Amino acid sequence: MCGIVGYIGKRQSSSVIVSCLKRLEYRGYDSAGIAVIGNGGIEVRRCEGKIANLEEELKNKPCSGSTGIGHTRWATHGRPSLTNAHPHVEGSIAIVHNGIIENHIELKDDLMKKGAVFKSETDSEVIAHLIYSFIHGENLDFEEAFRRSLRLLKGSYAIAAIKEDEPHKLIGAKRECPMIVGMGKDEYFLASDIPAILEYTRDIIFLDDEEMVAIGRKLPVFKNLKGETVSKESRFIDWTPAMAEKGGYRHFMKKEIFEQPRAIIDTIRGRVSKENGDVWFEYVNIDEEKLKSIKKIFIVACGTSWHAALIGKFMIESLCSLPVEIDIGSEFRYRKPIIGADSLFIPISQSGETADTLAATKLAKSLEATVVSICNVIESSIPRASDGIIYTHAGPEIGVASTKAFTTQIVALYLSALYLARRLNLLTPDDIRERIAGLVKVPSHLEAILESEAKTERIAKKYFKSQDFLFLGRGINYPIALEGALKLKEISYIHAEGYPAGEMKHGPIALIDENMPVVVIALKDGSYEKIMGNIEEVKARGGRVIAVAFEGDEDIGKKVDDVVFIPKTEPLLSPILTVVPLQLIAYHIAVLRGTDVDQPRNLAKSVTVE
Ligand code: AGP
Repeated sequence: MCGIVGYIGKRQSSSVIVSCLKRLEYRGYDSAGIAVIGNGGIEVRRCEGKIANLEEELKNKPCSGSTGIGHTRWATHGRPSLTNAHPHVEGSIAIVHNGIIENHIELKDDLMKKGAVFKSETDSEVIAHLIYSFIHGENLDFEEAFRRSLRLLKGSYAIAAIKEDEPHKLIGAKRECPMIVGMGKDEYFLASDIPAILEYTRDIIFLDDEEMVAIGRKLPVFKNLKGETVSKESRFIDWTPAMAEKGGYRHFMKKEIFEQPRAIIDTIRGRVSKENGDVWFEYVNIDEEKLKSIKKIFIVACGTSWHAALIGKFMIESLCSLPVEIDIGSEFRYRKPIIGADSLFIPISQSGETADTLAATKLAKSLEATVVSICNVIESSIPRASDGIIYTHAGPEIGVASTKAFTTQIVALYLSALYLARRLNLLTPDDIRERIAGLVKVPSHLEAILESEAKTERIAKKYFKSQDFLFLGRGINYPIALEGALKLKEISYIHAEGYPAGEMKHGPIALIDENMPVVVIALKDGSYEKIMGNIEEVKARGGRVIAVAFEGDEDIGKKVDDVVFIPKTEPLLSPILTVVPLQLIAYHIAVLRGTDVDQPRNLAKSVTVE
């Protein structure tokens, strides 16, 4: 996700836009830029890296004008670079964009056939060319050209645009990405988020999907894509700036837990075709003969990403009938793995910079394995060392404890398994369609779980003084037991262990008493009877059990002390749901214990040392 800003009013737009962008830097910080309508036309300044670099650029080369747009980038298509930095300009048009234009390739091809020359690798640039082509090819005015362009776009967007010879006009629009309109005194703002403009105004109008706003000398005019005027009410926002950075949430971690539905939608977007019954990855171009020669798959990662890897094993082995070996980065790199040209090596990393995973990746490459990485940060070290890349589109994950990166990694692994199984002719297009239909329901299931947050808060209040926790799961939910334990220990500093439920009797059962809560993932799937047996074993020894179970399970409530219900879903997708109550329980326990939730002691967001 990126941050976008537009300004039109009585002040110098460049200083206002930069100050607004600074408050959006948490949305992305690969590159930044600004376009202002000055006396000599549109002036553009761009930089790689953070907003501070843009400020430096503007100090050296100031630009003046009272109408402008700005952008801070989180790269999704096209590496972080100056040429890919927004704003994108075509002739008299400058635009900034947040979102993913799914059909940018076909739009770009059509425009290039008409002579358009593209300068960047991004999907966003196509928007500037479209608006320009409607103005100069069909003689439409700026607003109509903008509207016609929007109707051609598939995917998500929040766009702000200006036109060189219309300094008194600023246009914005949105679909599935946030955009607000700030109603100042004789000045107006467009922004991705409330934090950006709170210092200037608290009177906000929220644009809805498929709406656009044209701001000129008079009040903003809101229209739908048919050109019909729509009326909008402004709201007064009583947030503090500090709260606003986190979108009203107390911590980035909580915000990122609640961003998971959107992050999953963005990770699926543009990669599944119900029409063709297939899955597609933009940065994976391995020929099918090579894929068919793969005899073994390795998935290697650290920490939470390793837990995702363990889940990927279940997905790929059951859908692709290929052996999958999982390892921790720091272990893989020091052993003699049986790996070679017939192996596919999948490193998983949110940051793309974890030293142990990077070293393992380089070792695998040196042994001639094909490397396809799953990563959240474009052009980071691990993707750059890979033959193919599957980016999770989770947006920047600021909280040290990984949440939305984890669930999007699981989605990326599921899509990978479908991709491979289709190419190995193990799944038909109809099979793929059926599985995609199940996958696209996950975000709404997550929304339902997030709505039951109060239950997890009550559980946290009941157990937050405990000094030890045990998390138990079977099968594909054993890695979720590990992840639940890791979330709790790393942000609350409580000792917590994840264990295969079947292993409890081989040791950990000695720990069971009323002082050590036991969290059990008890889904009505193949192992339910056995899990219920484990719960009985805990209860028989005076232990207290917190269960995560499917809605409609009328038995579990009688056997355990507390239960959080989740919507039913198919086994391979259940980890995406079962982890969320555990994230929330860990979060609320940490808050009650007064720890630094976003930056826990001793931890770093990316462990770039061995
Ligand atoms: C997860 O909550 C931890 N912060 C940590 O285990 C993390 O998953 C691990 O360091 C791997 O990081 P990566 O995904 O960026 O490679």
